[in-house]
Amino acid sequence: MSPESAQRFRDNDMHNYKEKPMSKDELFVAAREAMAKAHAPYSKFPVGAAIRAEDGRIYTGANIENLSFPEGWCAETTAISHMVMAGQRKITEVAVVAEKLALCPPCGGCRQRLAEFSGASTRIYLCDETGIRKTLALSDLLPHSFETEILG
Ligand code: THU
Repeated sequence: MSPESAQRFRDNDMHNYKEKPMSKDELFVAAREAMAKAHAPYSKFPVGAAIRAEDGRIYTGANIENLSFPEGWCAETTAISHMVMAGQRKITEVAVVAEKLALCPPCGGCRQRLAEFSGASTRIYLCDETGIRKTLALSDLLPHSFETEILG
């Protein structure tokens, strides 16, 4: 492995915290650390998300924007990608933090993406810069979600 690949490998690994299960506040801290990695030069609206999966580990993400504006994506989506690529499929709790908005609720698309890997009672923590300020269940955020047995 080249030194560059080894560095990339280590960097990627930071999105997959391997220590023992963390507290809710540690989930917030992980989201805030992820927010520092946002690529948001267009909106200047950095967002961080941290997901705890069924394995007890935390998977983080930040929003990653693009000069072709619709091609950017949200912090929650990055975090979901890290979780899925680590082999996890069940979200137990999620923290979201935005630098410029206390209590940043996940956008509509991210609610549906979170729902794909959550249960009705999966907790969503909305945070300000000091910690968790509001707790919602996924079913509060996305009532009457798209569900059908025909497809799945
Ligand atoms: N954003 C997120 O990362 N998560 C959300 O739930 C709401 C919006 C990002 C997308 C875009 O990069 C910026 O915030 C402004 O919309």
